[in-house]
Amino acid sequence: PQNVGIVAMELYFPSQYVEQTQLEEFDGVSAGKYTIGLGQSRMGFCSDREDINTLCLTVVQRLIEKNNIDYQMIGRLEVGTETIIDKSKSAKTVLMQLFEDCGNTDIEGVDTTNACYGGTSALFNSINWVESSSWDGRYALVVAADIAVYASGNARCTGGVGAVAMLIGADAPLIMERGVRSTHMQHVYDFYKPDMASEYPTVDGKLSIQCYLHALDMCYEKFTTKAIAAGIRDGNSTLDIANGIIFHSPYCKLVQKSFARLLLNDFLRDKNPDFQGRYSGLEALRDIKLEDTYFDRSVESAVMNASKELFATKTKPSLLASNQVGNMYTASLYGGLASYIYNETVESIAGKRVILFSYGSGLASSMFSLRFSEDKSSGGALASLVSSMSDVKDRLDSRHCVPPQEFDSNMKLREQTHHLAPYVPVGNVSVLTPGTWYLTEVDSMHRRKYSRQ
Ligand code: ACO
Repeated sequence: PQNVGIVAMELYFPSQYVEQTQLEEFDGVSAGKYTIGLGQSRMGFCSDREDINTLCLTVVQRLIEKNNIDYQMIGRLEVGTETIIDKSKSAKTVLMQLFEDCGNTDIEGVDTTNACYGGTSALFNSINWVESSSWDGRYALVVAADIAVYASGNARCTGGVGAVAMLIGADAPLIMERGVRSTHMQHVYDFYKPDMASEYPTVDGKLSIQCYLHALDMCYEKFTTKAIAAGIRDGNSTLDIANGIIFHSPYCKLVQKSFARLLLNDFLRDKNPDFQGRYSGLEALRDIKLEDTYFDRSVESAVMNASKELFATKTKPSLLASNQVGNMYTASLYGGLASYIYNETVESIAGKRVILFSYGSGLASSMFSLRFSEDKSSGGALASLVSSMSDVKDRLDSRHCVPPQEFDSNMKLREQTHHLAPYVPVGNVSVLTPGTWYLTEVDSMHRRKYSRQ
């Protein structure tokens, strides 16, 4: 099969959010810390009515219905998540309920976990399956979904929740490029979840930022080398070969700093940097070492300044969901892709390339590129992919704003009832948007029952 990639996609986020300005006040931090310092406007969250299984059920059924896919046409289904409510039974097996009516049980794949990276691993596996001798001609379905919640304190404002489903097949409108995929993996304790009884991670915030930036440098270096070898980077800048650069986004400010770092990487590799143009103001950085600069203020502000305009065109459009929902962990990068597509038209992206950077603490990271097909026809696959994202902003804007006090009691309730059995959830079902799956009951044997709004 040729041109294997993303055929269709769907983004889901819950119907409620807290305003970050109100959260700053509620948390007693200085005004601007979350909004300007971290670059976040709103944070999505869910009540006890939604769990990892409902998120996956909701996003998959919406994708299938919107695109009129026959459930028989799915031959592989894989979920990437770090929201674990069962140490054995995968969310994928819960999704098999959706296939019961049509009798399709012949579907490979189970769940994949490593922090925010599981969705990318699921995507790579699915692309590989379609390109392999195991492929039976049907689609693969990749689901990336998470509930990102932190203990009260400085990380809580970087939570969020969301799910993305992607249909993978041949002759796709968004094609995975071969030969450039680059990976950096390493053993670190920057963010992990050793406490099985708690939903919260153990986080070393500063170390996690350093690890993210180091992984970015490593992946970009390898990606650049491979892009040169593949003949797709003929100039002096890797940034120039892509119209969009999309990042895993814990919060938007880190992404802006990361974009600036890529410019710094290009600059250090460039034998003859243009100090009059793109690299003006960077003269003093000629001999720096990347690993000495993770938290260097003067380097950071010089490269942020030099990369400001490129950031605004290549990356900022992809931060819509991140800014409005927060970190969706495995779904964050693909929410970025959805946001990027939302801001484009068929005319503007046909034939263009995007580079994606995926990061999951612990750590696993990859950089890869996708290319939009050249098909500009109005009834074509690219047109339908673009139009399927056209409601993202309206859906974000039509959510309910909930005061921080209510968000806080919701978090306390989650702490008290996490893993409780039997349990009957109390969250208001009427706030859920039509088509949302929700939890009705956990019985004394921890079996969960669901219904659809
Ligand atoms: N106005 C404007 N900016 C402000 C204000 C203000 N009133 N107050 C603070 N700031 C700025 C700070 O200067 C800082 O900017 P800088 O990053 O450019 O230095 C920024 O706001 C954040 O302030 P800090 O004091 O650094 O924040 P803190 O240390 O309390 O927490 C952190 C930030 C570490 C990101 C925390 O939220 C966290 O641990 N989050 C979870 C971990 C995470 O997301 N890691 C990223 C990669 S791993 C992953 O994806 C999970």
